[in-house]
Order: sequence, then C-alpha cells, then structure tokens
Amino acid sequence: MNYEEMLKLAEQASENAYVPYSNFPVGACVLTVNGKIYTGCNFENSSFGMTICAERNAVGSAVADGERKIKAVAIFSPKKKICTPCGACRQVLYEFESDVGIDVILQSDDGVIVIPLKELLPDCFKL
Ligand code: THU
Repeated sequence: MNYEEMLKLAEQASENAYVPYSNFPVGACVLTVNGKIYTGCNFENSSFGMTICAERNAVGSAVADGERKIKAVAIFSPKKKICTPCGACRQVLYEFESDVGIDVILQSDDGVIVIPLKELLPDCFKL
C-alpha cells in the first residue's frame, strides 16, 4: 500500500469521527512492518479529557491485533491541511516505532508530505 492510498483510508476513517464538541474530524491509518493496515478516527466525550485521537485509536487497533512495530502513519482532517499529530499521539506512536522509525504522512495542498516521527519528537522520553 502506498502513502497516497494510506491517506485515502485516513480520509475515509475521518468520516466516522464522533466530534459533536469540536466538529474537527480526524482519521488515521497505521501501517505495520507486517504490512497490516489499521484505521481509526477521533471520538469525543462530554467529559472532554476523555477524547481519544484518531492516531491512538488506530494504534490501539493494531496493538489489539498483536502488532507491535509501526512503520508509517497517515493522518487526515477535512478541516486542516498538514494535520500533524498532537504531542500525546507522538509519544504513543513512538512506543511502537519500527527499527526504521515511523514515517508520518500528511496531506498538503501540494501533495503528500512525509516527516520522520523522530523529527516531530526529538529527545523524547523513553525507559
Ligand atoms: N485530534 C486528533 O484526533 N488527533 C490529533 O493529533 C490532534 C487532535 C482530535 C481530538 C479532538 O477530537 C479534535 O481533534 C480537536 O482537538
């Protein structure tokens, strides 16, 4: 699966977002080293802090299926071009980084942008 296709799946996932409070849908598509694909959308809660981002939803599905190494994640929002992941999601993605890192795939007006996770989360916390 190429990065454009992953962005398309992220876009489709964003259509299922549950966002009554922010009206800001996000979709994510994770690719593991085993070639498996998992999608997720954000889902909010009236207790705002309980909101789950699209990226963490997709990562959770991958982990629940036994996957542990992620090599790419595509993120899409119809409300924002270049929808970079929040700090919490960067740290969660890092936990499951593959040996070659994680490519973060984003949609810009000029096409697909790819940013290595390590550039988005330098000197991050690790045990
Ligand atoms: N959101 C995500 O799904 N991913 C991010 O990386 C940033 C924020 C969601 C959370 C909330 O539902 C909405 O976007 C507005 O913050």
